[in-house]
Amino acid sequence: MEMFPAADPIPLPAPVWLFKLLHEVTLTLHFLAVELLIGGLLVGLAWRWLARSRSDDALAQGSGMLAHRLPTVMAYVVNLGIPPLLFTQVLYGRALYTSSVLIGAYWISVIFLLIGSYYGLYLAAARVERKQPWGLTGLASLLLALAVGFIYTNNMTLMIRPEAWSGMYEATQAGNQLNAGDPTVLPRWFFFLAATLPTAGAGLLLLGLKTDLAPAVGRLLRFWGGALAAGGAAAVGVMAFVVLGALPEGVREGLADNAVYAGFGYVWWAAVALLIAVGARQAGKASAALPLAAGGAALAAFVQTLALVMVRDGIRDTTLLRAGFDVWDRQVYTNWSVVGLFLLLFVIAVGLVVWMARVAFSARKVEEKYV
Ligand code: HEM
Repeated sequence: MEMFPAADPIPLPAPVWLFKLLHEVTLTLHFLAVELLIGGLLVGLAWRWLARSRSDDALAQGSGMLAHRLPTVMAYVVNLGIPPLLFTQVLYGRALYTSSVLIGAYWISVIFLLIGSYYGLYLAAARVERKQPWGLTGLASLLLALAVGFIYTNNMTLMIRPEAWSGMYEATQAGNQLNAGDPTVLPRWFFFLAATLPTAGAGLLLLGLKTDLAPAVGRLLRFWGGALAAGGAAAVGVMAFVVLGALPEGVREGLADNAVYAGFGYVWWAAVALLIAVGARQAGKASAALPLAAGGAALAAFVQTLALVMVRDGIRDTTLLRAGFDVWDRQVYTNWSVVGLFLLLFVIAVGLVVWMARVAFSARKVEEKYV
């Protein structure tokens, strides 16, 4: 029996490679924002509790600086998540729609979990402005965001398990089951959790370059930033082995045999090594800002995330191909005028984002004081 629903008879309006390219670029940006969000929440909350137990003003100020920025980061998480979702639906709709229906109740709940998490971030930021504690609000926001990530991991792993679909549908059509029994779910979710740390570390190092910081706050940002970049990269390196070990037989070999995925695998390890090196360097010399270390960590975090997106894509395509779904095997009828218009609007949108960032950076500095 054919495991996948029939393909849409309408051909794709652009080549598969273009959809893939746009998907990888926008998903990399989405993942970077997710990493900054979850990592920023983890660090901000840890600092908040340490500040209370140690009565430490630098920790309280640092935690306030993070809470103040998180609603903006969430805006990027959401807005940068929508484009890859559209591209994934175009390329893998037959698999993704099926898994989304099977976990329908959870999938729909993402909207409400997300609204709750976003609201919590705004509340936390408002409380920080008023110098009130924000730990519980932040914790609730973190738990809701983690639940969203967990549901995403369930859907993205179930969409590549067509052999499980009919059994699940026979068991219940209520959409209230997750991708249970798949040994890749938990390793993958913990991998994403670990991956938030080095990127958050790189973010702290960039923040530590600000020239108007009190010396103790600067040291805090640089020490923690360096330690998280190095320690988080080591943790994510360990988790990579766990994820690879949990893959079904043949998928690991398929990845190794593909020059593109294997190449990005090496790039990923190089970025992890760079994060460990520059992170350790800055953590060991937290009294001074090292712009090269901060820049190196930011670049390595970007490359690590891009390479991870590519290898993750390889896992999906290799697994699906073994089940008879070839993503490249599609009818394409390129509508170049639409593609051209899309690319033009894309460039204009990127230009607008750059312009907004310049306006934000050149705005008159407002003193940040949360203690
Ligand atoms: C708190 C908010 C969010 C968190 C923590 C989060 C986290 C994640 C995680 C962990 C994954 C990887 C799952 C895996 O492969 O195992 C993922 C994938 C993805 N997320 Fe998000 N996400 C959030 C919000 C959103 C939103 C609002 C959208 C879109 C509207 C979105 C779009 C996507 C897409 C398109 C993918 C991957 C699709 C693909 O496989 O091609 N995310 N997200």
